[in-house]
This record gives sequence, structure tokens and C-alpha cells, in this order.
Amino acid sequence: MTKRSEQDLIVGLDIGTSKVAAIVAENTDQGLEISGIGTAPSQGLKKGVVVNIESTTESIRQAVEEAELMAGCSIQSVYCGISGAHVSSFNSPGIVAVRNKEVTESDIERVEDAACAVPIPNDQKILHRLPHHYTVDDNEGIQKPIGMSGVRLETRLHIVTGSVSSVQNIQKCVERCSLDVINLSLEQLASSYAVLSADEKALGVALVDIGGGTSDIAIFVNGAIRHTAVIPIAGDQVTNDIAVALRTPTEQAEQIKTRYGCAVPDLITSDDAIEVPSVGERPPRRLSRYTLAEVIRPRYAELFGLINKELVRSGFADRLAGGVVLTGGSSKMEGLADLAEEVFHMSVRQGAPQSVRGLSDVARNPIHATGVGLLYFGQQTSSNNNKRLGEATSFVDIWNRMKSWFQSNF
Ligand SMILES: Nc1ncnc2c1ncn2[C@@H]1O[C@H](COP(=O)(O)OP(=O)(O)OP(=O)(O)O)[C@@H](O)[C@H]1O
Ligand SMILES: [Mg+2]
Repeated sequence: MTKRSEQDLIVGLDIGTSKVAAIVAENTDQGLEISGIGTAPSQGLKKGVVVNIESTTESIRQAVEEAELMAGCSIQSVYCGISGAHVSSFNSPGIVAVRNKEVTESDIERVEDAACAVPIPNDQKILHRLPHHYTVDDNEGIQKPIGMSGVRLETRLHIVTGSVSSVQNIQKCVERCSLDVINLSLEQLASSYAVLSADEKALGVALVDIGGGTSDIAIFVNGAIRHTAVIPIAGDQVTNDIAVALRTPTEQAEQIKTRYGCAVPDLITSDDAIEVPSVGERPPRRLSRYTLAEVIRPRYAELFGLINKELVRSGFADRLAGGVVLTGGSSKMEGLADLAEEVFHMSVRQGAPQSVRGLSDVARNPIHATGVGLLYFGQQTSSNNNKRLGEATSFVDIWNRMKSWFQSNF
């Protein structure tokens, strides 16, 4: 096995409630090229949160080893996703005076720090500070204010916080596999990089990543993220409903769901019978797909009802001209977009990772929206870091920073 250099490799590690996926990509001039993927069933998470360190560590180890083997490389550091009910978010404004009558990187940092100067509980930490846009004097809606002339710089940040102990538990599991966590991304933010187009974000769109344990929402308006939320209902509950209603073991219920499931009973034309194994010594029974769909529909309808409430609560429900995009493993249910359109009264599409090269049939699967999105997050983070490094080593920039520091302090 050829051990490739880590330098141009980006690894996304999606630690989900149903599966752990490690995706390796090369950051080439033509974009990201996926060279390896490893997946392992996940047993140590509940509703997106690590509840068993040992099992989670073992799943990560398996997934990473498989990805290393396929990509022919040695993985040392990863970008991880984070989700769960402990994540919360809010919008916060910030305002500062521009120091040298021209906006610099340091003014941006100061205005973002000012927006972050809000009390945050001790057990929470900031995961993301995502600017909506900037205002320089009276010019609103500026995306890149650096270099603009003005005296006053304002911003509005979408701040995402998460529980310190949940972050530490993820780090602990990854570090036990002798890997470093370079950075963490909110899972739906990562998925949005992989699944949404720039046009949709500009028009206004709600992304919903329906996984096994949680359904993660991210709302974009005018190209920027405005609202995020996590709902603790997803595919596991649908499987559980099937197991209870059809009195069949969970493993079989999962197979029946993914093979024959449909969210809208009226879409079933041929009334094929399904063989359903029973629990204990009882003989298997035969049921129609229509009956199965009648079991599946209410849970998805309940979930969409809760998502709709969240869209209304966010205040952006009537600004989503781009509609709703569903992704994640549980979005693969047949007829789901039809059911969602009935509830949301707007256009709904299923989203899978786009514009990645290599192993496309594996990666272009809604199950891997977060994993592929973490690669884009990694690409963006490393290019920002390189830019900052470049800026910090430029003599002019260091001189300007020292000058503005002296001017403002003496
Ligand atoms: N074809 C299918 N039809 C319906 N559901 C499916 C299908 N394939 C997979 N699923 C469901 O998708 C879920 C897993 O999705 P995914 O891998 O996105 O979750 P996860 O990322 O591990 O979990 P989470 O993001 O909630 O922590 C499971 O509940 C599984 O039953
Ligand atoms: Mg997921």
C-alpha cells in the first residue's frame, strides 16, 4: 500500500446515529476528488450524541481503516460533524468604528468579536460565527467589505453553540483512534455545502437532513445562513413504528422499511404482499405494501408538521422561494417529496451531494451529504487558514495592524 502525503488530503468524518462514514478526498486544482470511503454501523450514539465512548471509538476505527485501505493513504486528521439537541443558535448584531477609514481583516475580526460579546452559559461553547452580511456606513448587504472606505462597520452573525461535554466526547473518541480533530462543523451546515446550489441559497431555502436519530434544519436567505435547529425525530422512529405495528424484530423492520417502504399509501399501484417475520416462534405473515405505507406515513407527517412549525418560528417561512431540500438517509423514502409538499405548500426536492469527482455513485448518495459536506468545509477552512497565514506574514499587513493598534490605544 502506498502511503500518500497527508498534505493535499481532506478527510470528512461523519459520526452519525446510524453509521460512521470516513470520506477521503484529494484537494486538486480541478476540485475535490474522492479517493476512499469507509463506513461502519454506529452503536454508540443516541439522537446524534455520543453515549458510549467505547462503541463509538470502535466504529470510527473501522470506518477510518476501511477508508485508508481504499484510498491507499494514512489518515492523521479529520473534520468532524456535530449535532444533537444540545446545539442552539441565535442571531446577534455587532458594530465598530473602522480604524483607518478602510475596512481591514482586523476590523472584521473586531466587529465579529463585538457581535459575540453576549452571555453564553458556561457549559456551552461557540461552534460557528457565520456572518449574514456587513453594513459599511449606510451601505447594507455587503458580502466582502475588505478594502471598502467608511467609518462604521456593522454585521449580524448567526452564532451556533454546542455543549462543551458533547464536543469533548466526540474529540475523545476520535483521539482514541490516534487522530486529530482539525475542526468541527454543525452537520446541517456541512450538508448544505454538498447539497445546495448558490441560487437556492440566494432565493431562500430550507435544508432538512433527516438521518437516523435527528432531523437537522438550516435556513438560508439572501445567500447567508439565518436559522438552524435540530429535531430529535428521524428514521429510527419510523423503523420502531414498523417493528411495533407489524410485531417484527427491529432489524427486519429496518430491512422492510428500506426495501418496500413508501410515505404515501396512494402512490402504491401494485398491491404486492410482503413477507413479515414474526417474533418468537410464530410463523411469518403476509402484509400488503399499502398497510406498510399506512404505518410509515404518520411519523413522517408528524416530523414535517414539527419542521413547518420551526420554519414559521424562524420568521423566514414566507421567504423560501427556493423551497425545501430533503437529504440524509431517511430522505430516500419513496413518495417523501410528495408528502412534504402537502405539508409545506412549497416545492420540495431530494438533495444528494453534487459536483464531487471520483467514486461518484458512493458519494452521490443522500446518506453521505454530511460526509461530503465536511470535505467542502475542510477545503474552505484550510484555504482561510492559508490566507490568514499569508496575510500575517506580509510585512505591510503586520505594520498596518501595529499602526492601528497604536492609534487606537494611545
Ligand atoms: N432507502 C431508504 N428508505 C428509507 N429510509 C432509509 C433508506 N436508506 C436508509 N434509510 C434510513 O436512513 C437512516 C440513516 O440515515 P443517515 O445515514 O443519514 O443517518 P445518520 O447520519 O447516521 O444519523 P444522524 O444524522 O441522525 O445522527 C436510517 O434510519 C435508515 O433506516
Ligand atoms: Mg447524519
